[in-house]
Amino acid sequence: MYTRCRVCGGKVGEFLDLGRQPTANGFLLPHEVNQEFTFRLAVGACADCALVQLIDEVSQEVRYHAGYRYHASGSASHRQHFEGNARRLLATELGGSDPFIVEIGCNDGVMLATVAAAGVRHLGVEPSTNVADVARSRGVRVLTEYFDAGTAAAIRAEHGPSNVIFGANTICHIAHIESLMRGVDVLLASDGVFIFEEPYLGTIVEGRAFDQIYDEHVFYFSVTSVAAMAERFGLELVDAEQISMHGGEIRYTLARAGARVPAPGVAALLADEQARRLSAPDTLEEFGRHVERVRDELVTLLRQIRADGLRVVGYGAPGKASTVTNYCRIGSDLVPFVCDSTPSKQGHLLPGSHLPVRAPEAFADPYPDYALLFAWNHAEEIMAKEQGFREAGGRWIRFVPEVRVD
Ligand code: TYD
Ligand code: ZN
Repeated sequence: MYTRCRVCGGKVGEFLDLGRQPTANGFLLPHEVNQEFTFRLAVGACADCALVQLIDEVSQEVRYHAGYRYHASGSASHRQHFEGNARRLLATELGGSDPFIVEIGCNDGVMLATVAAAGVRHLGVEPSTNVADVARSRGVRVLTEYFDAGTAAAIRAEHGPSNVIFGANTICHIAHIESLMRGVDVLLASDGVFIFEEPYLGTIVEGRAFDQIYDEHVFYFSVTSVAAMAERFGLELVDAEQISMHGGEIRYTLARAGARVPAPGVAALLADEQARRLSAPDTLEEFGRHVERVRDELVTLLRQIRADGLRVVGYGAPGKASTVTNYCRIGSDLVPFVCDSTPSKQGHLLPGSHLPVRAPEAFADPYPDYALLFAWNHAEEIMAKEQGFREAGGRWIRFVPEVRVD
């Protein structure tokens, strides 16, 4: 159990306990339900550097086995976003002679494939062999390792310094962040940038997005905590941009201290976090109490629908669905199945709650009365695709930021 901050060693104060939970992407086959791993999912904030983090953690070996099912290319909007990122980096940071980019957690190569196609030197560092193989099939060079201080030194020895180190929805997963930051310091060129985009604590707390909390997300960054972390490793936060991925993230840009002039957005966001007391214990405890109310309301609603003899189907099986179904103890008595477009999730059971996952075709066969929208960050894409459901009188249930039926 952690009571010490993974970055600075300060004291971490717990503010929310989501109960015993499995690994959020640990989809099971029906015969595997008796071998399930669980841990206590609870979060706290560091009293010294403000970094919000899990109290207990699941080892990386359990989380990122060869069968890791998250593919970053899973939705059209994600593919567009990462291809856009690659083009932007090619135009801004990778214009010099023989530039080199390293991506921490390159997943299936959704970003680096564009860099590879442009003929730019690159290396993806990705411990999950199955997604790494997909990246390789797209022409991406991949090192199947965890990124830490040792790996970074080896990469520098073989390839030289990196102009860009990039990570998307990856840095918040890495419990050994102290070693990762030392690795960034070893590998980054003197005028290089470390850019990472991650779920934002401000969005989670204000948007009440408690289902973003699960075993893979060890850290919930804020501009305040990232600025403090950068400083600890001789770096400086020089840009912080809000982006719309996963319901609202921040893209942080770190450079060596003094190497670049910070963009005005950094000071503005720092002041904003200060003004709304984002990391203050009372703010975080109030968030915790809100989450308990959402749980009670959602369970009451689902029980009422069942009592009325109506049907609910879950829509989307993202990692978030594990948090909410297990915290609220939503079983197949309340939600008989979930549909999801990811072939490798279909035919499996959601971890913990064991709701069966079926192909999207099952949704319309026949339409249920209600759809519980687990993949709420893709609401626009999903609702556009599923207009027939509304036309047939179906209603969407959301639980973030609060329980709503429409
Ligand atoms: P996503 O938000 O990409 O990942 P995470 O697990 O990190 O939260 O998950 C979205 C899930 O929703 C993914 O399993 C695919 C599924 N999905 C559909 O079933 N249909 C759709 O139209 C879209 C956009 C997503
Ligand atoms: Zn700390």
